Amino acid sequence: MYTIIAKELLAPGLVRLDFTAPRIASSALPGQFVIVRALEEGERVPLTIAATDTAAGSVSIIFQTIGVSTRQLGALSAGQRLASATGPLGKPSEFFGAKRVLCVGGGVGTAVLYPQVTALYRMGVPVDVVQGARSRDYLILQNELGALCGQLILMTDDGSAGRKGFVTDALRDLLAAGEAYDLCVAIGPPLMMRAVAEITRPIGLRTVVSLNPIMLDGTGMCGCCRVQVGGQTKYACVDGPDFDGHQVDFDSLIRRLKGFVDEEQALNQQHPCGGLYHGK
Ligand SMILES: Cc1cc2nc3c(=O)[nH]c(=O)nc-3n(C[C@H](O)[C@H](O)[C@H](O)COP(=O)(O)OP(=O)(O)OC[C@H]3O[C@@H](n4cnc5c(N)ncnc54)[C@H](O)[C@@H]3O)c2cc1C
Ligand code: FES
Repeated sequence: MYTIIAKELLAPGLVRLDFTAPRIASSALPGQFVIVRALEEGERVPLTIAATDTAAGSVSIIFQTIGVSTRQLGALSAGQRLASATGPLGKPSEFFGAKRVLCVGGGVGTAVLYPQVTALYRMGVPVDVVQGARSRDYLILQNELGALCGQLILMTDDGSAGRKGFVTDALRDLLAAGEAYDLCVAIGPPLMMRAVAEITRPIGLRTVVSLNPIMLDGTGMCGCCRVQVGGQTKYACVDGPDFDGHQVDFDSLIRRLKGFVDEEQALNQQHPCGGLYHGK
């Protein structure tokens, strides 16, 4: 169980692992996630289920090797095993009967968006996708997304592929051109999701975001993943991770995500690479 059957480097520091987990593969729905450990003594890492193959009984995860635990995962090779994989966790995504959807993905958020685009395609709902990345090298899943959506608009910070600019520039242009959607799904860094929600709020375009607070147990018991949504405390692992982007208190999410930066940096310095490749 949890044997890695395929490994691919999608972009610098962005790894796809496919591993056997038949029970998770047969029950997972779009928007759900797993908590995995690379090693017995390793940390629990929440990662979105990017795809499943029920025939092969396998689950795919796509992750950025950003710190110690994701680097431990990224160091595993085909044939090796994960120490554990728990899931599927979280509520599946809801699409509210939408007739046309705009999906906006930033960085590794595009991987989190992929199962949702796949689900909408299978439901026969037209989808346009805006994907943003630092540069050409960091754009991922272009062929896969291109086969599922109407328009695939690529944006890079440096203009090395697609248009130069941010995903919010493409979003503003689409709306100004009169493109009409009844749902926007935005997944990426909190600042990006907040910026998208601020553009869609005045025109009343329902916007769903996927939140990534720090998680421990993933079952609603430790309280670690609490977020403020519509003035109420919610637990992203059981009430989310998808929430109404117009109701989310992004400031408190960003503050809490920075809560362990010192400890994370200290651990990264202890790693054999001396933190040299941290976040790269
Ligand atoms: C529901 C959910 C789905 C996610 N899906 C993906 C995904 O598909 N691909 C992907 O690349 N990343 C995903 N993440 C983020 C991923 O879990 C973190 O990048 C990872 O835990 C970092 O661990 P680390 O030890 O490598 O890095 P660290 O150096 O420990 O931390 C780097 C940053 O990662 C975040 N982080 C650290 N520990 C946790 C934790 N236990 N839970 C959540 N965030 C943490 C913090 O913001 C931290 O500043 C998801 C997070 C959540 C909550
Ligand atoms: S991770 Fe513990 S309550 Fe959500």
